[in-house]
Amino acid sequence: MSDTTRLFDSAVGHYVRFRLPYPSEMIADIVGRFDLGDGIGRVLDIGCGPGTLTFALHDLGVRVTGIEPNDAMLAAAMTTAGKRGIRLPFLNKTAEAMAPEDGPARVALFGRSFHWTDRSEVLRRLETVIEPGGGVVVVHEDTRTRSETKIGQVVEALKRDWCPDGIPGAASRGNHEEHLSASAFSDIERVLYPVTRRWSVDDAIGHMFSTSYFNPERLGSRTERFEIDARSRLLELEPSGLFEEQLAFSALYATRQKHKAH
Ligand SMILES: C[S@@+](CC[C@H](N)C(=O)[O-])C[C@H]1O[C@@H](n2cnc3c(N)ncnc32)[C@H](O)[C@@H]1O
Repeated sequence: MSDTTRLFDSAVGHYVRFRLPYPSEMIADIVGRFDLGDGIGRVLDIGCGPGTLTFALHDLGVRVTGIEPNDAMLAAAMTTAGKRGIRLPFLNKTAEAMAPEDGPARVALFGRSFHWTDRSEVLRRLETVIEPGGGVVVVHEDTRTRSETKIGQVVEALKRDWCPDGIPGAASRGNHEEHLSASAFSDIERVLYPVTRRWSVDDAIGHMFSTSYFNPERLGSRTERFEIDARSRLLELEPSGLFEEQLAFSALYATRQKHKAH
């Protein structure tokens, strides 16, 4: 398993508790745009983690397969499926290992996971998996909006002080649009979905622990000192310890170019 998939080993518990849920309008939009409610079109939720999007789509009647290389994340997804008494297909593999037999699917969905993959290679492979009229959907929190909020600025300062070397590199450089434009999925639309998030200091720190920057495995013996520092910076900013942020989620809808040969 590559380093990027191991980054989430110790983050699962925090991930499940503290990650922001995706806006329901965004999930409904994915279903509507690709007509997924017909019970025929399949979604491959690639890098599905604990099943954040997998279960949301399943609940809307969509056929969905979760694909996840990290054993701890996959176990969390399967535990949830078990508790809810539903049977869903989950595959333990990376996006780079996608093959024609994983298709046909109408949509390859990446929730906060595309940046971890070798995007050109993955998009090449998806050409043999995604059916005509289908596409690739990439969703995540809009980092541009976050960097302007009070908590966002604390997080950026903590990254500079606690992770000056950044995190182990993503598998490919360049932004998502560049990779998608150069692929068969070059008909791209970006949509923003605004959300309001209310946080306590504990929520905000739990969320930090769920990220690849500040997960406890990575911080190791520095975890406790990090928490003290993060808490004091947040309380200095807002002594009540209660924050409200206006954030946004971003979705890139990339459909197959009908007339472009690849
Ligand atoms: C931040 S989590 C996102 C989980 C979930 N999709 C969500 O939206 O909440 C990123 C996931 O991508 C997975 N991942 C990392 N590298 C990957 C790769 N090369 N192929 C597929 N998934 C990968 C990680 O194991 C992790 O579960």
